[in-house]
Amino acid sequence: MRRLTLRPNLVDFFSNDYLGLARNKKLYSLIDRKLSAQTGNINGSTGSRLLSGNSDYVEELELFFAKLFKSPKALIFNSGYNANLSILSAIPQKEDTIIYDELIHASLKDGARLSFAQRFSFKHNDLKDLEAKIQKAKGEVYVAVESVYSMDGDFAPLLEILELTTKYDAHLIVDEAHSTGVWGEKGNGMCCHLGIEDKVFARVYTFGKGIGAHGACIAGSELLIEFLINFARPFIYTTSLPLHSLVTLKVAFEYLEKEISLQAKIRSRIKLFRSLIEGSKILSPLIQDSSSPIQVLRISGNEKAKAAAAAVQNNGFDVRAILSPTVKEGEERLRICLHVFNTDEEIERLVKTLVESL
Ligand SMILES: Cc1ncc(COP(=O)(O)O)c(C=O)c1O
Repeated sequence: MRRLTLRPNLVDFFSNDYLGLARNKKLYSLIDRKLSAQTGNINGSTGSRLLSGNSDYVEELELFFAKLFKSPKALIFNSGYNANLSILSAIPQKEDTIIYDELIHASLKDGARLSFAQRFSFKHNDLKDLEAKIQKAKGEVYVAVESVYSMDGDFAPLLEILELTTKYDAHLIVDEAHSTGVWGEKGNGMCCHLGIEDKVFARVYTFGKGIGAHGACIAGSELLIEFLINFARPFIYTTSLPLHSLVTLKVAFEYLEKEISLQAKIRSRIKLFRSLIEGSKILSPLIQDSSSPIQVLRISGNEKAKAAAAAVQNNGFDVRAILSPTVKEGEERLRICLHVFNTDEEIERLVKTLVESL
């Protein structure tokens, strides 16, 4: 059974706060100062975007995001869950087909379930399977992938996937949840980093992970954004984000632009962690290939994975086991998230503890 638990006071190797922005005191003061200067509905937005919840501030922020994410338009959503639900439930029509990587996030799967389009998955990162599925698809074809996979930390082969979607005139949707902030100039994600942003039908950026805040936005064409405003029910029928969430986003991205060395810092943490793991006879066969802050040690079996997590937690580290059925049986794991605030010494101690516990 799932249970709500409070976070223990352990070293964080678990949260999505890769760049440490959620706990950054300097950023907090900057946000506080900006907020104090605001007027208008400062506590709540008072309604949905289409009614009383629109404002100059949110429209200006969307222009800021369109520029940042190099797209004609951007539309802000209350969460990544809402954004993903919106795009797949609103855009593909009854005669169309949604094809998604089997490992995509639940929010995209739920969006596909709400759509009247046909839907099927393709094997994780398997281009042959994707091509075979596209060849069988009817109507307009939408292919949904993540740039960095949340449970495995690996990348989608975006350039190759784009080649396929271009070849078959399919529309590519990229969920950038785990690359927002961490990749790209000014933290604008993997598609911008690869220079393919204008060839992707829709990009979903979420702000609860690398940006340390909350909310999301979809970047795409004017037509896409207009369509979402008119037909995306998770956008239309909900109270929009309050001003403090919007100010937080603006200030966090401005802060990241100035402190872009945080990206190099997280990569140095990843390099250190992987070099220590690869130097261990016990751990190196268990580690999955990943150069993202999400690192996975495969420990087959729920009981074994739970015991390993408990042993690591007893030594002061917040690391969690990911069990089946969240992942397939036999693919249970310890999911370790690295952060800029994890010191070299903490990473070394974590790896030592893992060696002793496994
Ligand atoms: C890949 C992916 N997409 C979307 C989401 C949902 O984003 P949010 O937490 O902003 O609702 C998450 C995380 O929860 C995620 O990991």
